Amino acid sequence: MIHKLALIGFGTVGQGLAEILLDKADTLRDTIGFEAQIVAISDLLKGAVYHPDGLDIATLLDVIKKTGNLDDYPDQLGLERGWDSLKTIQETNADSIVEVSYTDIETGQPAIDHCRAAFTSGKHAVMSNKGPVALAYEELSRLAEENNVRFGFEGTVMSGTPAIRMPLTALTGTDIREARGIFNGTTNYILTEMEKGLDYEVALQQAQQLGYAEADPTADVEGYDAMGKVVILANVIMGQPLKKSDVPCKGISHLTSADIEQATREGKRWKLIGRVKKDENGISGSVAPEMIPMTDPLASIMGATNAITYESDLAGPITLVGAGAGRVETGFSILIDLINIARGQI
Ligand code: HSE
Repeated sequence: MIHKLALIGFGTVGQGLAEILLDKADTLRDTIGFEAQIVAISDLLKGAVYHPDGLDIATLLDVIKKTGNLDDYPDQLGLERGWDSLKTIQETNADSIVEVSYTDIETGQPAIDHCRAAFTSGKHAVMSNKGPVALAYEELSRLAEENNVRFGFEGTVMSGTPAIRMPLTALTGTDIREARGIFNGTTNYILTEMEKGLDYEVALQQAQQLGYAEADPTADVEGYDAMGKVVILANVIMGQPLKKSDVPCKGISHLTSADIEQATREGKRWKLIGRVKKDENGISGSVAPEMIPMTDPLASIMGATNAITYESDLAGPITLVGAGAGRVETGFSILIDLINIARGQI
């Protein structure tokens, strides 16, 4: 059966997913029997198109590349234009809503309302947007369950690196007591470059130019992006309703070249560590720069790469290293959620 998709947002991640669906259509169909079709896109700035029989992906990508405006998608019988996000979610024939609009980590909106509308309309929702998972996980996962649909969010932590699916599937049955990691590529890139002698400001500018940083890099450098991921891990992997306000958060903007040199002298490295821990006192989370010894696997993670170490009772420490962002990697994170939804698996 063809899985029909409506994309809310058509920026980097949405286009990355579209490219993958175009390039891998034959392989996905022939090897795992997965077939997807984009029936609708609604983007606040780029316009909206819907056709119940599917849109042509190559044309969508071509139009966006040439004019940046979906109004230039060619006319055809049955094509609808200009539907807003809620109408697209509620009234199209999509099986899954792909929520790839911008992340507002303060309010989670409008993405939280998009998820509510999807679930109450009987549609699955998959996303790389951290807002709904970090701020409304309990409500939304319950709503999805009540409506017998799925809430997919692999891409919210470490993009296509399976930081969420790995513990939920491969470590099932173990008691995961701690997850700690490098969850923000921008700050790890800055720390790496500062160790090479660059000033903080210059390193931050480079991270922005390379596209690692958020539009407003405050969320990166002050640790709020990593904090959102800590909250997601606590709720999803540890099943504990930790909130943003429960997580003390310190970024890297106060670190100086002298601090970096001191760590080097001590045979250590600064890393912005996000941590969630479960013990006899309950659950706790934190985000802060830590000087970690070189023997810690996280110390060797350089540049914009992310990593997570899971500590469990039965499997010991396991570290997963990989991309934390990127057009193709995050597009893949959406695809893997969709494939598992189509297969009826986690
Ligand atoms: N700005 C983020 C980072 C992107 O630097 O890791 C992924 O959330």
